[in-house]
Amino acid sequence: MIKSVPTTPYDDQKPGTSGLRKKVPHFQQPNYVQNFVQAIFDSLEGFEGQTLVVGGDGRYFNREVIQIVLKMAAAAGFGRVLVGQGGILSTPAASNIIRTTSAFGGIILSASHNPGGPNEDFGIKYNISNGGPAPEKITEAIYARTKTISEYRIFDAPDVDLDAIGTLALGPMTVEVIDPVEAYAALMEKLFNFSAIRTMFGNGFSMAFDAMHAVTGPYAKEILENRLGAAPGSVRNAVPLPDFGGHHPDPNLVHAKELYDQMMSPAAPDFGAASDGDGDRNLIIGRGIFVTPSDSLALLAANAQLAPGYAAGLAGIARSMPTSAAADRVAEKLGIGIYETPTGWKFFGNLLDAGKATICGEESAGTGSNHVREKDGLWAVLLWLNILAVRQESVKDIVEAHWRNYGRNYYTRHDYEGIDTEAANGLMAHLRSELASLPGTKINGLFVSMADDFTYHDPVDGSVSAQQGVRVVFDDGSRMVFRLSGTGTSGATLRVYLERLVTDEDKLGLETQEALADVIAAAQSLAGISERTGRTAPDVIT
Ligand code: G1P
Ligand code: ZN
Repeated sequence: MIKSVPTTPYDDQKPGTSGLRKKVPHFQQPNYVQNFVQAIFDSLEGFEGQTLVVGGDGRYFNREVIQIVLKMAAAAGFGRVLVGQGGILSTPAASNIIRTTSAFGGIILSASHNPGGPNEDFGIKYNISNGGPAPEKITEAIYARTKTISEYRIFDAPDVDLDAIGTLALGPMTVEVIDPVEAYAALMEKLFNFSAIRTMFGNGFSMAFDAMHAVTGPYAKEILENRLGAAPGSVRNAVPLPDFGGHHPDPNLVHAKELYDQMMSPAAPDFGAASDGDGDRNLIIGRGIFVTPSDSLALLAANAQLAPGYAAGLAGIARSMPTSAAADRVAEKLGIGIYETPTGWKFFGNLLDAGKATICGEESAGTGSNHVREKDGLWAVLLWLNILAVRQESVKDIVEAHWRNYGRNYYTRHDYEGIDTEAANGLMAHLRSELASLPGTKINGLFVSMADDFTYHDPVDGSVSAQQGVRVVFDDGSRMVFRLSGTGTSGATLRVYLERLVTDEDKLGLETQEALADVIAAAQSLAGISERTGRTAPDVIT
């Protein structure tokens, strides 16, 4: 039986860079989840009888919200829901299932790399039929709907058993509980040379993959250990936990420090990698060398043809604006297109659908390709393994040869987290007000050649996205970018991205913060970071 329940709007359900993200207690307010889910369904058309994919990264509150989504999908008129066993689907696996089953769309429950638990983060995101995050047109419609909602509809039924694989009925709708790993593992086997990678592991190649007690554990165990023959135990922290074992499932140098320290030690394995809460990010570390995500994007693009799935070459490369320009020179050399988009994976969807780009990446540890419409952590790890198996060189040798060939983009991101929202907005407003007068002036000894607030003109659908980040470019080609995070759940996070291209062979081995010291100082003085935020140093440096 379908129940209509009266409700009143919340005024803070605006989806950010990647869906609606809030603390769990915030989501637990009466009807908060139901309002948002109903607003999603009310903003869509033509899904009667169609398939919806539902899954999440297993974090605290995942199962409860899945039950609500299933019952509301039945009331809304979906014909079938595919849900991962235990409510688990990594973000890239969900994207794959949406695509391969011709689903109408999907609801993915995750707050990505943010911590989980009763007082930590949760998130709800809607993906469209191409498997990618809903474009702004849809997220804006959802937000508009949340402001006027007056009732939601839900099928009145007991909870669905999410743990047994099989098909059951929820009123007129079918629920299929599916193996979360199988289809994804099969897709990876198609893209990569598994036999070459197996041979490499057979010859003693060693790796450490840290699943961070998040969603990739079961995927990595099956693919790396079972199918590719990595030594048992190569995948660590492999069991997804609702609170990620109390850690941040963020594969960066702060939260994956143990792995980093191991990779820098004499006993390091050949290859180290990690993924985040929902499995879309990646961290790549060779023995004695951390590969920045921007460099990794460039390297993967330059070597992709070594993998069967990309043997025919790439159509183009896309990167988010704050990502370093390392990939641009690879595209130039390959004679293919390069696209610069705002931050957030949703902007890559049109380029991938139109066949303009094959590989995409962001500086925030996200890389992926046209195989799905999300970034994909394990995909990046497997493409690296494929390249290592074919080239039979170390990660360090491959990276250093790349720098000699293309130059090195020294790159760092400084994050100031949980700062006062007004102070953060004031800082950005001040920067914007300075933009017009900056070109031709000098900041900390560096000449400004260009300054703007990035506006994206989508070459496929013509849509325009303004105010996507303040960038200041210097005449030596170095650059700084300022933007506020759109994924935070409390206060504001200021991200400052700093970059410099060096081609001089003697200067390819500098320490990153030193190589960028004058750009960093210029950013701090132009933005007045310490005066405006009270912070004298960033919270996280990546
Ligand atoms: C961050 C990253 C961005 C990524 C997003 C979702 O967004 O910067 O590249 O797409 O998370 O994983 P931000 O918090 O900066 O808005
Ligand atoms: Zn993620």
